[in-house]
Amino acid sequence: MNICVIGAGYVGLITSLCFAKQGNRVICVDKDIEKVDKLNKGIPTIFEENLEELLNECLTSKTIFFTKDIHQTIRDSDVIFIAVGTPEMDNWDVDISQVTEVINQISYSINDYKIIVNKSTVPVGTQKYVKELLIRNGVSKDKFDIVSNPEFLREGKAIYDFLNGDRIVIGYDSEKAKMVMEKLYSTFNTKVVFTQPEAAELIKYASNAFLATKISFINEIANLCNKVGANIETVAYAIGLDKRISPEFLKAGIGYGGSCFPKDTKALVKIGEKNECDFKIVNSAIKVNEEQRLLPVKVLLDKYKSLKGKVITILGLTFKAGTNDIRESPSLFIIEELLKQGTIIKAYDSEASPEIKQIFPNIIYCHSLYDSLIDSHCAVICTDWEEFSTIDLSMLKKKMKNPMIIDGRNLLDLEEVKKNNLQYYSVGRGN
Ligand code: UGA
Repeated sequence: MNICVIGAGYVGLITSLCFAKQGNRVICVDKDIEKVDKLNKGIPTIFEENLEELLNECLTSKTIFFTKDIHQTIRDSDVIFIAVGTPEMDNWDVDISQVTEVINQISYSINDYKIIVNKSTVPVGTQKYVKELLIRNGVSKDKFDIVSNPEFLREGKAIYDFLNGDRIVIGYDSEKAKMVMEKLYSTFNTKVVFTQPEAAELIKYASNAFLATKISFINEIANLCNKVGANIETVAYAIGLDKRISPEFLKAGIGYGGSCFPKDTKALVKIGEKNECDFKIVNSAIKVNEEQRLLPVKVLLDKYKSLKGKVITILGLTFKAGTNDIRESPSLFIIEELLKQGTIIKAYDSEASPEIKQIFPNIIYCHSLYDSLIDSHCAVICTDWEEFSTIDLSMLKKKMKNPMIIDGRNLLDLEEVKKNNLQYYSVGRGN
């Protein structure tokens, strides 16, 4: 099948490569010529496990090609995937202007019947909007079908998740489109859920909001654990043994970040508002997360009357391990608040995107974990990088001015910490 994917960002690139790996001929379009050139040379443009190998494998087998020429690519394709950005707006609405732009382009270039598949995360009702836009642009109804096919991949595990997902969701309103999508995904060993387009669009938001709520819930339980002397790890383990709950996403910490949960939870609240549905639970999950990510600042303020002039080390800038992505990372909010309190920030993360230097030009970026601890009054672990869980605590004690750790990801072994006699705070482990 001739497939094209519009947008070579996170979702677009992974979608292109995974369909190419399944034996399809894929053309991936992006307006950023520098990105297109790099990808055609086999140079990854995002940080992702196994990406370089897969990119080069597909380039060698000539199953993938990257281009800027959207017009010809649309004409040559049977199935067009839209995988462009849908950023958050200030009022929690979703900005779908890039989707509109692509649809206008398709309206101009379309020559015969196409299946247009939306992979971007878009508000409920977008399939209908896109259909109406094409017709308004003069495209005849028999020239296209629109399918909604949200993605459920995690950053860092994106290729694995695409090829081995728990489910594939396809929202359709034409039997012809359903058959083509069925064929396209026939090589995947994954359960396919066929449904209406509106349901498919909602499944994406509901999934992310449910997971985010699970995290905020366990974080509230963790905060109570601290007060009553229970250990959240045992509590979460025992809760998770109930198959109806599952052990996943019960890891307490300083909250969720990334480009998806914060944006999608707010978007769901907004979609609810527009449909006169007040999403009280999701709204609370958002509020809990906003407070939870500032937990280290609260601990520091309880400990020191004033933080002015204190040197604080931030260990981890990315929103989770296995990615260089810093978007909505809890560490950003912590740094921002600590700077307001007059602290001196030293930060260490060997993978964080260089963008961080534009956000915080005036903090000290260290090239080694142990250098970042020199003269520090407190180290705050913000990301679950393995390097931090294996930190040499006796070395840490020697380097720091005051050996205090706030472990925002519950990485350190409590026995080891005790042995080293450190001031130690974690999330819901009784200290
Ligand atoms: C998330 C979803 O997991 C994917 O299914 C979805 O496709 C994706 O968003 C998306 O909408 O594109 P991702 O943002 O890559 O994927 O990250 P997750 O691995 O889900 O982690 C999100 C955040 O939650 C991280 O900050 C992580 O540290 C935090 N988290 C996760 C916890 O604090 N506790 C947990 O138990 C799990």
